[in-house]
Amino acid sequence: HRHLIGIKGLSPLDIGILLDKAEEAIAFNRSREKKNSVLRGLTQINLFFEASTRTQASFELAGKRLGADVMNMSVGNSSVKKGETLIDTAMTLNAMHPDVLVIRHSSAGAAALLSQKVACSVINAGDGAHEHPTQALLDALTIRQAKGRLDNIVVAICGDILHSRVARSNIILLNTMGARVRVVGPATLLPAGIRDMSVEVYDSMEEGLKGADVVMMLRLQRERMSGSFVPSVREYFHFWGLDAEKLKAAKEDALVMHPGPMNRGVEIATDVADGPQSVIERQVEMGVAVRMAVMETLMLSENGGPRA
Ligand code: CP
Repeated sequence: HRHLIGIKGLSPLDIGILLDKAEEAIAFNRSREKKNSVLRGLTQINLFFEASTRTQASFELAGKRLGADVMNMSVGNSSVKKGETLIDTAMTLNAMHPDVLVIRHSSAGAAALLSQKVACSVINAGDGAHEHPTQALLDALTIRQAKGRLDNIVVAICGDILHSRVARSNIILLNTMGARVRVVGPATLLPAGIRDMSVEVYDSMEEGLKGADVVMMLRLQRERMSGSFVPSVREYFHFWGLDAEKLKAAKEDALVMHPGPMNRGVEIATDVADGPQSVIERQVEMGVAVRMAVMETLMLSENGGPRA
């Protein structure tokens, strides 16, 4: 079975094919009759151990629009509450013969572990601070649609890089596709190995945003911090929050992106989030198209039949 655990390991060709396929789904998703039977007869289970609005909703819609039977496991009401482990939960669902398991979990490596245990495709919908591959793909599609290419685009990824699987997947994807990646944030919110990831590191928004084509803001993940490592909101916004003044350092036509959920007034000002350069809602739209492309690619063989 084929899985999507991370962007790491995908070639530029793999990524290009997925983005091209997703592009085909954009018009379909905007049409009135947005349902086909590409995945008819196949069963998709969404297993989210962490909260989600965008990813879970778009995986569900993507599966339904392709004709699959989609089930959302409500983890909060499941036997996980009685102490059942991740593996036992997954093996229980596996016994019901799903064709694809979409998993989000707080532990890095959870999706890879499941992929070795279950007899179906596994898609990583976010595992700890490791990867969120479909987010990076939808971000890439959003950029490619607006700018026409990914190579030599200057992308500034800003804020809480340390806790962000979105940042990791985006850095890997954008580097693979020949973009120039900058990370901008306080030293306390940069991972130790960041300088080994082929990025330019900046400790000021003004310097980091200078001439950027894309400004990608990240949520300050306060729930993953404790004690003196939690910055005050007011101070964080002052230095690292994207407001209209700081945005002026980027190119005039720079895109403003945010994976969501946003903390307005923390990492991004409301007028910028809702302003003319923002493509935040477009990212959500691209999310459905990308997830359709990923599921179709993983689950269908070249002749269009279900994979054994
Ligand atoms: N961007 C993202 O993963 O959003 P959700 O947590 O709402 O799924």
